[in-house]
Amino acid sequence: MLNPRKVAVIGCGFVGSSIAFSLIQRGLFSEMVLIDANQDKAEGEAMDLSHGLPYTATMDIHVGNYDDIADCALVIVTAGANQKPGETRIDLIDKNVAILKHIVPEIAKRNYEGILMIVSNPVDVLTYAAYKISGFPAHRVIGSGTVLDTARLKNLLGEHLDVDSRNVHAVIIGEHGDSELAVWSGANVSGIPLHHFCELRGHFDHEGSMQRLYEGVRDSAYEIIARKGATYYGIAMAVGRIAEGIVRDEHAVLPISVVLDGEYGLDGLCLSIPSIVGKDGVHKVLEIPLDESEYAALHASADRLREVIAHLDL
Ligand code: LAC
Repeated sequence: MLNPRKVAVIGCGFVGSSIAFSLIQRGLFSEMVLIDANQDKAEGEAMDLSHGLPYTATMDIHVGNYDDIADCALVIVTAGANQKPGETRIDLIDKNVAILKHIVPEIAKRNYEGILMIVSNPVDVLTYAAYKISGFPAHRVIGSGTVLDTARLKNLLGEHLDVDSRNVHAVIIGEHGDSELAVWSGANVSGIPLHHFCELRGHFDHEGSMQRLYEGVRDSAYEIIARKGATYYGIAMAVGRIAEGIVRDEHAVLPISVVLDGEYGLDGLCLSIPSIVGKDGVHKVLEIPLDESEYAALHASADRLREVIAHLDL
């Protein structure tokens, strides 16, 4: 039996421990298991995080092993190397697939029936690898995808237009990485088409602004890594949002990384695509309207990822 209020975080580096912090703040779970190759590190994080419980909501935070994950509703994998300055996410593939090949069989052999969420990079490729290695049904294997990139876009657009970013409706899809794309054709602010809203706010150079904002989003991680060495708070809040959609069975639409099965004419890979998410994982991968150039960019992103997948021994 799954415990709908139990989560495990595998990998307690900056990303894993920030995710744990974000999940605690949201008060979604009553039990959290932390797993790390370095037991001391996991213990230290569990202790540190537990000290906030009198000021949040009661829960049991403890270090565990793979036997502890069998009844989790959600297992979040953050283990692996992260980008160094100048490295792309794809550059991490060999190291991180090797780590995944150790972790995922441990999960699968416990007959795990909950949702497996991959956060380690390159997230779309690793989500596909986890799907193949685990043998789990596609709807139970997801990646954090472009939920973070979409937040980055909404944030930049909100600043550009001086409007609350929560009223900005725009999405980044494709690879969580260099080949991602912004779906400008459907972007709007509370139903007002984006270009119209830009003009209401005194901005008329649409092409220039779109390019600048897109590059700002795409290159965010590089900019942050150049300054502080790693990114972790943004991804932690994005994962918190996905976990909320799952635990509350919200049927929220989020651009997570999903296994494609013919959507957009694509299969044999994972890509970040707006999908309906609830307690059973992916309810539906949505085929959102794309204009011709967006459709081509999505296919180019898929081609890039398929090249990487083709070199993996899965
Ligand atoms: C980023 C890392 C998580 O985009 O890929 O910040």
